[in-house]
Amino acid sequence: MLHFHGENVIDLRVNGRDVSVKVRPADILLTVLRRQLGLTGTKIGCENGDCGACTILLDGWPVKSCLMLALEAVGHEITTIEGLENTPIQNAFVEKEAFQCGYCTPGFIMVCHALLQHHPNPGDGTIESWLQSNLCRCTSYQEIKDAVLSAVNGNAP
Ligand code: FES
Ligand code: FES
Repeated sequence: MLHFHGENVIDLRVNGRDVSVKVRPADILLTVLRRQLGLTGTKIGCENGDCGACTILLDGWPVKSCLMLALEAVGHEITTIEGLENTPIQNAFVEKEAFQCGYCTPGFIMVCHALLQHHPNPGDGTIESWLQSNLCRCTSYQEIKDAVLSAVNGNAP
């Protein structure tokens, strides 16, 4: 079993790059991404696992980075919103005007990208089920669903 005390330098793989960061055992992945690596597209919302604003991909699966220690990410492939530039789903969000506020949008794009990787042709029920991990109280999710369907029809994910 590994034991960590005080600050430790760990290696992470983020958006296809190997980086080293100095972390304490209790540092969550969310704050390490933002404060040490400058990847501020991952947002701090509830810090409680509820809102999805902090969603990143870990080995291709959406994970709430406020619920994960940075140490736990060693050996895994991390993708943040900065790593999804010019992906079909990002372009579909623009095309369908599915972008909402800067807080919820990155998390929604992350979860929709992962959805398309794991379900290339999702039905309504699958889309709705995946979107339950992210919250926006301001508007409907219709444009987001339209963006997912547009990415399905227009581009191979
Ligand atoms: S900040 Fe992580 S789920 Fe809200
Ligand atoms: S929380 Fe972002 S638009 Fe509602």
